[in-house]
Amino acid sequence: MNTMRFLALPTLLLFSSALFAQAIDPAALYQDYCAVCHGDNGDGKSLARKGLVPPPRDFTNPRSTLELSRKRIIAGIAQGVPGTAMSGWNSRLSTSQINALADFIQTRFMLPAPTEDASQGGRIYAEYCSVCHGDQGRGAIWAAGGLSPPPANFTDPRVQRSLSRDHMIDAVTYGRPETAMTGWQSRLSKQEITSVVDYVITTFMPNSRMALVNPAQTLAANGHQGHDRMHFDINLPFPDQLLGDLQRGARLYQANCATCHGEEGDGGGPRAYFINPRPRNFLHASSRSALNRPRLFEAIGKGRLRTEMPAWEKVLTRQQIADIGEYVFHTFIKP
Ligand code: HEC
Ligand code: HEC
Ligand code: HEC
Repeated sequence: MNTMRFLALPTLLLFSSALFAQAIDPAALYQDYCAVCHGDNGDGKSLARKGLVPPPRDFTNPRSTLELSRKRIIAGIAQGVPGTAMSGWNSRLSTSQINALADFIQTRFMLPAPTEDASQGGRIYAEYCSVCHGDQGRGAIWAAGGLSPPPANFTDPRVQRSLSRDHMIDAVTYGRPETAMTGWQSRLSKQEITSVVDYVITTFMPNSRMALVNPAQTLAANGHQGHDRMHFDINLPFPDQLLGDLQRGARLYQANCATCHGEEGDGGGPRAYFINPRPRNFLHASSRSALNRPRLFEAIGKGRLRTEMPAWEKVLTRQQIADIGEYVFHTFIKP
């Protein structure tokens, strides 16, 4: 009996460490050891957060991208941060597990670090954007009075809350219909657009709780690799496995939306002429390239700040929102 135990223990240890060396699953490690404090989405929104001072690090905050080099992340995980709830993990995790966790956090949750040519985004901004958005990102003085609607003020927390990085990339690529914000896809490469957006985020919104993608999309994208985030998938489903009903959606659309967005979805409903910015034209390239089911669901439910687009989640059920979303998607976005 005693000999048995004596023999079994080292064998077991050998076996389990060989297992670890073989396959490291950083997502599972994160889930098991880190999510309890840093949250499933790396944004520090966890139950544990309430009791912790300082709170767990929000990896999605642009400030984290600026402050946390790969080296510092690894040191933070291995040794912890003295005086905080972040304890060191080097006695419990191997070096390769810690490295894999660092990669996971960087690619999954953090904004990409500024490109090799860090000044590229700044140069593009100065050349093409500051004329309207101003050197300080608050909107140029002439444009504030001269343009209707005025350029987005990137330093306004309300504006920051209404934007995600993906949304900004879409807005810069395809423009905003019926506004002075034109699309830049014919003048700037994808990489240039990304770098100027990252410049705007890190320079003018360093404290915002900017989401990489719209929340609905984060849900839908769960389970994908971090680098797929940028890939826009027109066929993603509604959240929570909701399925929209076309006929109910059509009725709801005519009753609630057509007055602004028009029966044809072209943004030309009877009320549209009195509204600024104009209701979204669903037939425009900026809609057809950006509004898949999860984004429609999000946009309809939450509305749009600074516009007359109401937040419909206050009056419609999630099922009804899915019904309308399906109708808009099927009829106007991807007929
Ligand atoms: C008990 C709660 C808790 C757990 C569990 C936890 N963390 Fe933390 N973590 C924190 C807190 C709190 C901070 C913020 C420290 C600060 O602001 O200085 C932090 C900070 C960090 C930082 C930033 C370090 C720096 O230099 O600023 C990294 C990276 C990190 N955690 C990674 C992890 C990883 C990976 C895991 C899982 C292996 C993990 N954490 C588990 C609470 C936790
Ligand atoms: C001719 C003026 C003008 C120029 C030049 C311009 N913008 Fe804009 N921009 C606007 C206006 C006006 C809006 C507000 C649109 C609205 O309210 O829907 C805006 C909105 C935005 C938004 C927010 C979009 C949203 O959905 O709320 C972003 C991001 C943006 N601009 C980035 C840029 C970048 C980056 C550049 C340079 C490549 C640029 N803009 C150049 C006028 C301009
Ligand atoms: C009172 C007028 C009005 C009504 C009613 C209205 N909208 Fe809108 N809608 C707007 C305006 C204004 C915008 C903002 C346009 C922009 O920002 O380009 C908008 C934007 C949107 C967007 C794009 C949002 C985004 O984030 O890109 C969607 C999707 C949308 N509306 C769907 C609907 C649906 C579905 C209904 C009916 C349930 C509806 N709207 C009812 C005025 C309205």
